[in-house]
Amino acid sequence: MIRDLRTDHHNILRVLRLMKRSLSNLNGKLDSKEFERARECIKYLCEYPDNVHHPREDLMFEMLLNREPKVEVQVGNLHQEHIDLFIHSRQLHDALESAEAGKLETIDALHQQAHGYSDMQISHMRHEELAVFPLIEQKLTLNDWKAIIAQAPSDKDPVFSEKPLKKGSSGYLLLTKYFHSERIS
Ligand SMILES: [Fe+2]
Ligand SMILES: [Fe+2]
Repeated sequence: MIRDLRTDHHNILRVLRLMKRSLSNLNGKLDSKEFERARECIKYLCEYPDNVHHPREDLMFEMLLNREPKVEVQVGNLHQEHIDLFIHSRQLHDALESAEAGKLETIDALHQQAHGYSDMQISHMRHEELAVFPLIEQKLTLNDWKAIIAQAPSDKDPVFSEKPLKKGSSGYLLLTKYFHSERIS
């Protein structure tokens, strides 16, 4: 599972990069492919990390703290950060909708939200990878993992899973095309 979570981080990073690049290529044009791409990135960020990736991690952090309460300092505020990231992803979505409603001045706000969200998500993932995932790998037992897997959401990543949903059926037409035709890291 940790390997899957690291893969998720890598993919989330790719989506964050694409979102920022698409937004900076907009040149104020909201009827462009770039904007559509940014919209799909934001939809993905509101869906997969919040509904699947973070709930899986929360189960692991809880198990780790039960087993090893003294690592509380290392785990820090990761659970609270999941809540904050959820709130920020909704704000990012709201900023997108305001921009779509044609309020030109809101494009700046959308850029700011996108960069703020991205910075927050990147430092959150870095903390997990450097300080907490190694502890989880060390401390959890096979039975702990069985209990986590039994409770964890099992949904597949709608863009990066090995067999992405059929073209057009997932609402990620552009992202699926982009990431599956251009094998960039
Ligand atoms: Fe997390
Ligand atoms: Fe994570």
